[in-house]
Amino acid sequence: MSVASIFETMEYGPAPESKEVAEKWLKEHKPHFKQFINGKWVEPKSKKYMTSNNPCTQKKLASVPLSNKADVNEAVKAADKALKGWVKLGGHGRARYMYAIARQIQKHARLFAVLESMDNGKPIRETRDIDIPLVARHFYHHAGWAQLQSERLPEYKEIGVVGQIIPWNFPMLMLSWKIAPAMAMGNTVVLKPAEFTSLTALLFAEICEQVGLPEGVVNIITGDGVTGAAMVDHPGIGKIAFTGSTEVGRIIRKATAKTEKKLSLELGGKSPFIVFEDADLDSVVEGVVDAIWFNQGQVCCAGSRLLVQESIAEKLYRKIRSRMEKLRIGNALDKGIDIGAIVAPVQLKTIEDLVQKGVDEGAELWQPSWECPSDGCFYPPSLFTNVSPASVIAQEEIFGPVLVAMSFRTPDEAVKLANNTRYGLAASLWTENINLALDIAPKVKAGTVWINCTNMFDAASGFGGYRESGFGREGGIEGLYEYVKLRVEEEFKPENKANRVDEKSTSQRQSGIPKIDKTAKFFIGGKQKRPDGGYTKNVLDVRGSVIGQVGEGNRKDIRNAVEAAHAASKWASTTAHNRAQVLYYIAENLEIRASEFADRLSAALSQSTKKSMLEVNASIDRIFTYAAFADKYDSHVHATPFRNVTLAMKEPLGVMGIICPNDAPLLGFVSTVMPAVAMGNSVVAISSETAPLSVTDLYQVFETSDVPGGVINIITGDKESLTEALANHDDVDGLWYFGSKEGSLKVQYAAAENMKRTWVNFGKTRDWFDPKHVNAEVFLRNATQVKNIWVPYGE
Ligand code: NAI
Ligand code: MG
Repeated sequence: MSVASIFETMEYGPAPESKEVAEKWLKEHKPHFKQFINGKWVEPKSKKYMTSNNPCTQKKLASVPLSNKADVNEAVKAADKALKGWVKLGGHGRARYMYAIARQIQKHARLFAVLESMDNGKPIRETRDIDIPLVARHFYHHAGWAQLQSERLPEYKEIGVVGQIIPWNFPMLMLSWKIAPAMAMGNTVVLKPAEFTSLTALLFAEICEQVGLPEGVVNIITGDGVTGAAMVDHPGIGKIAFTGSTEVGRIIRKATAKTEKKLSLELGGKSPFIVFEDADLDSVVEGVVDAIWFNQGQVCCAGSRLLVQESIAEKLYRKIRSRMEKLRIGNALDKGIDIGAIVAPVQLKTIEDLVQKGVDEGAELWQPSWECPSDGCFYPPSLFTNVSPASVIAQEEIFGPVLVAMSFRTPDEAVKLANNTRYGLAASLWTENINLALDIAPKVKAGTVWINCTNMFDAASGFGGYRESGFGREGGIEGLYEYVKLRVEEEFKPENKANRVDEKSTSQRQSGIPKIDKTAKFFIGGKQKRPDGGYTKNVLDVRGSVIGQVGEGNRKDIRNAVEAAHAASKWASTTAHNRAQVLYYIAENLEIRASEFADRLSAALSQSTKKSMLEVNASIDRIFTYAAFADKYDSHVHATPFRNVTLAMKEPLGVMGIICPNDAPLLGFVSTVMPAVAMGNSVVAISSETAPLSVTDLYQVFETSDVPGGVINIITGDKESLTEALANHDDVDGLWYFGSKEGSLKVQYAAAENMKRTWVNFGKTRDWFDPKHVNAEVFLRNATQVKNIWVPYGE
């Protein structure tokens, strides 16, 4: 091309990054890879292989093993064998290895970046400047956590062998988000990269070899969904961490629900990008580029729903269209491009189908005038306007470079639109008015909120979803808890079956008006309510004599209680100080009636008044604990390496169902309900079956203690059927279950439908009198979710 013709067209020439390093590395491997198990490179037992292609050229890069169940078994065996030594090495020893890994990644950064771009199709500018530096940062940061584990998390220990399954959109970054915290906390790892993008994970395995990481601490096996499923089902794995589609996430939730495996899920999203009329529109346009055209829009937290205030909507669309016209698409290794290739033809087809659906639904599609290269998997940046909020393209994750725009009039409407989704991964807010931004941020249901910025990540900040975007966090101290368990859990005892209430002996159903006037009613929405079905059930003491009656709740009662709990959602924004005051008041009023409650317990459990008084006093003490914590289990500011504050806000889950333990009926109730209430949740509690009367009377205490109606609702009756009704209820956000092992597994399974958070005891009982067993922070943590709000400041 002559200089004159360049002046003529003003076209950019290509600025390719050399692929020499990556080609050399591939050639050294022929390019035919083995898998990394027990510190060695082994052929897969399956004897099968799959290919990894370059999406920009559709050419094959290498073949990698398609591992099967037998391979998974080998990897788990190796990880299990390595566990003891890795734990024994201690935090400092582990920190040294992790630090060495971080250093090696930095040394080989160019190879990692080029290889990642070739295997995935993402722009080299992104892998070079974002993915790989963040990977190194993750290992450095978590080397620090390994060092500090004994100091900062002394009550916790490793889980054991963890299985990690990652997607193809950020192959190395997702690997680091998974492996770094797991290793730091003393776990050993079996990780499976996604089938399209295994190569950098194999290169990472070589780094592990180079730093002399003890064999078996990290095992990398490659394969597809079947390989992943074999990991999920493996009994030797104590925890599964998954990032990927919501569909597969749900399958995994159902599979692990049948076991005691821990699980964290980071799933899809349809994240809102909200622009208010006073926003700096030129910054907004660049923000939009980063939100939806970063990584071709194949980003779980992509700002894929543009919500614009009506007054500026047309102006902003015009600006975005003219910016889109200037975006450059092409080979991932070209340093001058903005958009690379879609990972695979199947993904391209999904995007095309969804876009067609949008057109069929009547939305207006705009694409730039230029053509995409024809030889690879390319899709142009696309903007839909005139979109109806209920349409498929406004609700489904497209996972491609497609932006869907809608307008709103008022901030309230913006919040409603933003939350009109089953997801809740991230949100981005644009306004020059900090008051408005900080008013909206807590109202948007999302795990991360970026103010005047987007797609910012760091190892020091937690990342993860609300609602169907999954549960658990990665990064920050909040992410560490996914890889540890309480030491004291080992002291928990198997369920005392004697505490199970025998249905036949107690359930003397009577319809109509109960004969004995001493029927305890439900407490719903701040009022006493008769059971919907009109059924009551006798409460017997341990000798079998009738001491009263309670209502037998059904599905309808649960629905009413959940509705009342939702109506009380203002409790979440009541100040922590005021919540504390209400809890202290509850304790005070319980104290006034202590002997009455002790008598109730004595009658039900046939125990001395003295023993019952111990439980009442322990209950008062426990309420004090959670009153004290209401304004002390507070939020963090994470030290992320940017000019901003990252506020790690602890927010309540919303409406929680709590199935209270049968042992220690009163103390068990306050130990579980009070932390949830202290954090701002509204609760539907199913009282213990052993002594329900000692709980139903609490309504009088709540009424005199200024507990707003609907914040605490109490239902009695058959634990199993009430639990089922709560677990199946779509408007219950979190569910705690203290009961049998079978009951625990059922709860986990049913909760998979809307991905509600569950916390169950697998039939193991704590000593409710022992503060160590009732580790308050664990209860508070399970009653909250962390929202990270990124607020930039300064230049
Ligand atoms: P996927 O969810 O099927 O794959 C993610 C990982 O899970 C891969 O390693 C895969 O081998 C593994 N896997 C698949 N089925 C499994 C099973 N039954 N048990 C255990 N592991 C299993 O995602 P896929 O098919 O690559 O993409 C489909 C859609 O998922 C995309 O169009 C996108 O909408 C969404 N997605 C979302 C991601 C996110 O970060 N939120 C990442 C990747 C995909
Ligand atoms: Mg590939």
